[in-house]
Amino acid sequence: MQAILVIHNLLRWAVVLFGVWTLINGLTGYFGKRSFTANDNRSNLFFMISCDIQLLVGLILYFNNGWFARLKDLGNNMKDPYTRFFTMEHLTMMLVAWVLVHVGRATVKKAGTDVAKHKKMLIFFGLAIILILASIPWPFREAIARPLFRTS
Ligand code: HEM
Repeated sequence: MQAILVIHNLLRWAVVLFGVWTLINGLTGYFGKRSFTANDNRSNLFFMISCDIQLLVGLILYFNNGWFARLKDLGNNMKDPYTRFFTMEHLTMMLVAWVLVHVGRATVKKAGTDVAKHKKMLIFFGLAIILILASIPWPFREAIARPLFRTS
C-alpha cells in the first residue's frame, strides 16, 4: 500500500498541472475570444485522464488502507478532523470534482460555438480544479497535513 500511496501523492502534481493548464486555456479562450483548438481539447483530455487514474488509485487506498473500515464507527470518527477528512471529505469533494470533469468534457464537446465551448470549459473545469485544490491535504493544513513529495 505504501507504493500506492507514493503514486497517489505524486500523481496529484499531474492532476494539478493539467487542471491549471485547462483553466488557463479556458480563461484565455473565453476572454481572448479565440477559437477552440486541439490544444484546448488536449488539456481537457489530459486533465480527465489524470483524474481517472487518481480516482482509481484513491479507491484502492480507501478500501485497502483502513479508511472504509472506519465508517463502522462513524460517530466517533466524525469527531476527529483527520479521520473525517480522509473517510468523508476528501472522497466526497474529489468525486464531485471527477463528475464535473466528465460532465464538463461532454458538455464542451456538445457546445455549438467556440465561445460556448470556452465558457463551459471555464465553468466545469474551473470549478473542478478549485474543489481539487481545496481538498488536497497540503502540508500547511495542520490537522490533515501530508508531504508535498512522498518518496517512501
Ligand atoms: C483527483 C484528485 C485527487 C487528488 C489530487 C488527491 C490527492 C491526495 C493526496 C496528495 C493525498 C496524500 C497522500 C500522502 O499521504 O502522501 C491523498 C490521500 C488520500 N486520498 Fe486522494 N486525491 C484525489 C482523489 C481521491 C479519490 C477520488 C479518492 C477516493 C477514495 C482518494 C482517496 C485518498 C485516501 C484514502 C487517502 C489517504 C491515504 C492513506 O493515508 O491511506 N483520493 N490524496
